[in-house]
Amino acid sequence: MIRTFLALVLGLAAGIALAQDAPKGDAAAAKSKIAMCEGCHGVVGYRTAYPDVYTVPKIGGQSPAYIVKALEAYKSGERPHPSMRGIARSLSPQDMADLAAYYGEGTK
Ligand code: HEC
Repeated sequence: MIRTFLALVLGLAAGIALAQDAPKGDAAAAKSKIAMCEGCHGVVGYRTAYPDVYTVPKIGGQSPAYIVKALEAYKSGERPHPSMRGIARSLSPQDMADLAAYYGEGTK
């Protein structure tokens, strides 16, 4: 019983520590990082023109938490899209948080 309680308390403490470690997104800091996204996601109508025209999902206005989760899923391979995987692999957790803050503001 005491063991279970301790495990719970420790788990909770670890959870809180983790939440505090999550990088805080800074939309201004993302300005130097969006160059690699804009070619696809910054286009009105959200289509790429090169090499083929294909639809790119709108990320402006998404919830920042959703954007980070999606980027993590591409990085881990859980989401298989090859170009997004290549890009997500080069992003640090801080990059993801900044980009999510930038796009999550909803004006892009
Ligand atoms: C080569 C074109 C291209 C570039 C460059 C690109 N993306 Fe993407 N992105 C896509 C496509 C296509 C998808 C949809 C992939 C799929 O079906 O899983 C996507 C999906 C996403 C999603 C998931 C959207 C959703 O609704 O689930 C996020 C978030 C995202 N991109 C963020 C970014 C960020 C941030 C960058 C820059 C660091 C970036 N992308 C650069 C083409 C691109």
